[in-house]
Amino acid sequence: MHKIFNMDKTKKEGRYSRIYKQLDELVRKSDNPISHMATVVAVLHHKMEYFFWTGFYLLQNGRLLVGPYQGPVACQELAKDKGVCWAGISRGKTMVVPDVHQFPDHIACDSRSKSEIVVPLRNKKQEIIGVLDVDSKDLASFDEIDAKWLEKMVELVYG
Ligand code: SME
Repeated sequence: MHKIFNMDKTKKEGRYSRIYKQLDELVRKSDNPISHMATVVAVLHHKMEYFFWTGFYLLQNGRLLVGPYQGPVACQELAKDKGVCWAGISRGKTMVVPDVHQFPDHIACDSRSKSEIVVPLRNKKQEIIGVLDVDSKDLASFDEIDAKWLEKMVELVYG
């Protein structure tokens, strides 16, 4: 049986709210989106205990390539139009996947990942240029609270 991770919702709200405040202050120290991405993933990865892999995949000439991340070594490129990250890009919305093995064409960079959330990253012109991807080793780790806060965090990248 695989474990299901559920952080208490009030605790989760409080944790995200504090992280958001910290990140909002940190990103003001630089105007470089890559530095912002690296800062966002470092803080999130170390403060959210169920985040097993935390990182960005970025579009480059029609390819989706790994950007700043924390966690085990991941796929450098994701095969076009397969998996959760590409689905987030083509649908232009946050994807919450409670069990990755039920997701058609899911790309397993690490067999330990069980659930996943993908949030589109937009530049200043509101064009989707990549995604924030977070994996958990437990099933059903992500819910509407993660979606709401991670969408806010991602907006800090291009501020
Ligand atoms: N699972 C993702 C690939 C990236 S790794 O999880 C780090 C996907 O299906 O797009």
